[in-house]
Amino acid sequence: MVLEVVMDLLQPSLMASIVNDGVMKGDLGHIGLMSIWMILAAVCGLLGGMGCAYYAIRASVGFGTDLRNALFRKVQAFAFRELDKFSGGTLVTRLTNDVMQVQMLVQIFLRMLIRSSMLFFGSIAMAFLISPKLSLVFAVSLPLFFIFLYALLSKSIPLYRTLQAKLDRVNSVLLENLNGIRVVKAFVRAAFEKVRFKRANEENYEVGLKAARLLAINNPIMTLLLNASIVCILWIGGAQTWEGGLAIGSLAAFITYVTQTLNAMVSLGNTLMNISRAKASSDRIIEVLDTPSSMAEPVAAPLAAGTPSAPSAPSALSALYGQVEFRHVFFGYEEGGEEPVLKDVSFLAKPGETIGILGSTGAGKSSLVNLMPRLYDPTEGSVLVNGVDVKSIPLEELRSQVGIVLQQAVLFGGTIRDNIRYGKPDASQDEIEAAARAAEAHDFIQSFPEGYDTQIGQRGVTLSGGQKQRISIARALLAQPGILILDDSTSAVDLRTEARIRTALRDRLQGSTCFIIAQRISSVADADRILVIEDGRIVAQGNHAELMVSSEVYRDIYESQLGLEEASHAT
Ligand code: UTP
Ligand code: MG
Repeated sequence: MVLEVVMDLLQPSLMASIVNDGVMKGDLGHIGLMSIWMILAAVCGLLGGMGCAYYAIRASVGFGTDLRNALFRKVQAFAFRELDKFSGGTLVTRLTNDVMQVQMLVQIFLRMLIRSSMLFFGSIAMAFLISPKLSLVFAVSLPLFFIFLYALLSKSIPLYRTLQAKLDRVNSVLLENLNGIRVVKAFVRAAFEKVRFKRANEENYEVGLKAARLLAINNPIMTLLLNASIVCILWIGGAQTWEGGLAIGSLAAFITYVTQTLNAMVSLGNTLMNISRAKASSDRIIEVLDTPSSMAEPVAAPLAAGTPSAPSAPSALSALYGQVEFRHVFFGYEEGGEEPVLKDVSFLAKPGETIGILGSTGAGKSSLVNLMPRLYDPTEGSVLVNGVDVKSIPLEELRSQVGIVLQQAVLFGGTIRDNIRYGKPDASQDEIEAAARAAEAHDFIQSFPEGYDTQIGQRGVTLSGGQKQRISIARALLAQPGILILDDSTSAVDLRTEARIRTALRDRLQGSTCFIIAQRISSVADADRILVIEDGRIVAQGNHAELMVSSEVYRDIYESQLGLEEASHAT
């Protein structure tokens, strides 16, 4: 950049020399020599400019890539609590559009800002060298330019802020629609959504147009100021030339320097506008980067946290392997929120036990099990796995011991095989099939023409709800976790298949502790112990027979479900 600017600053002086010492004195040799210098200077400037462009683009693209990586790492480190705060939509906009804006700014900064400010000061200095007296023109024109630029910027900065917000709106309407396109179609709301999108899009257009209009008056006014300055210079300078005080070539060079100075100011103003535009984006990026993860990793690994994954390698604490204990746990989603979701929950699940969790919808069942793999932290009390507080077990180690099938089955684009071995990428085909068989998924997977290589996701076969659930179960089973949690994972599976899955689980997970959340009593009736949850509290626990005697709530649920022929048949 320095090379390019120095060459740009040199050109008018070389031209002045051609006019003053060549043309005026009729020295052809001097003209030829200076022309060669001018060409050399132009080539050097070109090389400098190209080099600057190349490295500026490289640096800014690299910066954008680093920034995106940093954001992605940050999002991966987020606990569920932070993920609740940023919706997927804004994170997508922040990772793409906002990073792009800042990346553009870095490039403009490296190329234009440095160039403009160097040209600005360099040209003033060169003009001053030629004629200090004529340079007084700057004393009038520069303040005028500054006032105009200031007025322009103070109008455009808020406008650009609004523009970014409008673009955000367009993006969120779009993302919301893409995510919910099936619901939109099912409710025949396409017309409504079209209007909603059109409105957001038009608002964006209007603000964009306003900003463009403002930019459009920028150029004519700047040109007017520039031409007025030149007229002044010619008037005053012309008289000086006539009197012999100033060479004609020098006057021409002087005018070029003034033009360069004022042009540099114009592009400085544009850069400032770009900065104001990118500021909105960078604020949004920094907000993500500066959000601390509420889930702090323990500083040092505890000595006896149990084995990382397989029961085949028992640790000193193997007698406790798969033990889970809740001690007076309170939990709420909103920090300092009114009513906690879990209230004073205490229980002990011994290794190898199967624990059923039953309760009406919204009672807090999912919230309870989410505390075991530390998807959330309790607000009070503690959760212990294998006798150790989960807060002092490294997250990765903890989660490799606790397999969870979330209530909402989540599958990734890719083959069925990739989805099953997600938690254990090096699993062999035999292991994958064994897990799929236990989850009653093998048969339907085999019935697809491409079997385990069937693509799921956007393209290819879309699976039924029950099929998705069974693949999620297979995924959790494959890793042979010491603690397995099924959160309503067989709700979309018919009763006979569900019973077969339960039998297979018992065979496969001997020694593992199992938590089964269910709506149907039949799903948990044969558990070693059933926890009945109501309104965030454990209101009763015991096995089926005990609860039938001791718990009225349980009897109520039982009787309400008896009416279903299937349920009674299964129990
Ligand atoms: P749960 O999600 O724990 O209930 O929510 P549940 O027992 O598993 O219910 P089902 O059977 O799956 O339907 C317990 C409470 O926590 C609140 C809900 O409003 C509910 O009252 N909650 C849940 C939140 O505030 N935020 C969440 O992200 C989830
Ligand atoms: Mg739930």
